[in-house]
Amino acid sequence: MKFSHPLMHNNFSPSDMKGAIQLLRKRNPVLTQSRYVREFENKWSKWLKVKYSVFVNSGSSANILTMSILKILYGKGEIILPTLTWVSDVNAVILNDFKPVFVDINPRNLCMDENEIFKKVNKNTLAVFMTHAQGFNGLSNKLLKFLRKKNIILIEDVCESHGATFNKKKLGSFGKISNFSFYYAHHMSTIEGGMICTNDKKIYQIARILRSHGMAREIGNQIDEKKIVKKYPKLSPKFIFLYPAYNFRNNEINATIGINQLKSLDKNNNIRRKNFSTFLSNLNQSLYQTNYKLDGSCNYAFPVILKEKNFRLRDRLELTLKKNNIEFRRGNAGGGNQLRQPYLKKYIRKIDYSKYKNVEHVHNFGYYIGNYPSLQSDKIKKICSILNSI
Ligand SMILES: Cc1ncc(COP(=O)(O)O)c(C=O)c1O
Repeated sequence: MKFSHPLMHNNFSPSDMKGAIQLLRKRNPVLTQSRYVREFENKWSKWLKVKYSVFVNSGSSANILTMSILKILYGKGEIILPTLTWVSDVNAVILNDFKPVFVDINPRNLCMDENEIFKKVNKNTLAVFMTHAQGFNGLSNKLLKFLRKKNIILIEDVCESHGATFNKKKLGSFGKISNFSFYYAHHMSTIEGGMICTNDKKIYQIARILRSHGMAREIGNQIDEKKIVKKYPKLSPKFIFLYPAYNFRNNEINATIGINQLKSLDKNNNIRRKNFSTFLSNLNQSLYQTNYKLDGSCNYAFPVILKEKNFRLRDRLELTLKKNNIEFRRGNAGGGNQLRQPYLKKYIRKIDYSKYKNVEHVHNFGYYIGNYPSLQSDKIKKICSILNSI
């Protein structure tokens, strides 16, 4: 068989399929958001050790709802964002009329450089929207203490880092709100899907309402629902729309898959951690970056970052990867420096790229390739010898 290494492999098991088929075979099955969605949310909250979770149709929807919640609760402000993240994090900020403030990354964990965050905080800063990039932890005691002292909200995007930890606690349990994605290419999948998590009851209720058209009856608590109905006696009790909102609901099939996938997440993540260290110990350290901050990390991908700023070497690497059917993405998470993307031109006029030298390096000389549980150590060694051969 021809050698190949996709970004993700076999992220749906026969038991995922079986659960979904069983649901479809029921007589009159309820397939829109119902009891399995609730069950998945409860199980996810338990796994993450947070009070509340809201299942939505994508990680991007989780990002948008999160920023919409901040807008409802706090109005305006600046949101500090990484230059290396997925586009939906930035979209969520600008579409909710917040001012995005970008910071460079720390090359050792690909997350925001905390020293840059300290520099960019000012009286208008409302929140830091941390992306735990590609399985790495972006938190530190110093950062958490700083944010607490300055009364700045922490939002965590954990879409690429399910199961990664800081101080032995799972990422996503530190922020006021956290977001996960269950897209096919991530640590676990519900085909498409996302989760919003929080310990704050009010935020939970608003997230539920915004997920379903802004509808009051989605608040998830009969006493609170009755209070709203009483306040609007001229409206049909089941059709009270509190905010301009969205339909970001997910469905029972995806929830069933999520419940089943969650059972193997920890086991699969242990394999991913082991794979990652096999990659590291077989890569040529003079060619590629290997000094990552690994404490608590859990990576669904392996970052391949050339040390040298050499475009010819980069072209050779790409050619070698293509020739050997190793699927890759240049720029790592989200295609590299977001500041270079056309959609931002309207929002940020003058950009001095020399102020973002770490993300610029990843933008030009960084890649990621797959790290999935079915990947065997012999294959990792072969991939490394291909990478080392350039
Ligand atoms: C950091 C980050 N945030 C958000 C998302 C969006 O998730 P989804 O693809 O489920 O919309 C992704 C997707 O890859 C991501 O990597």
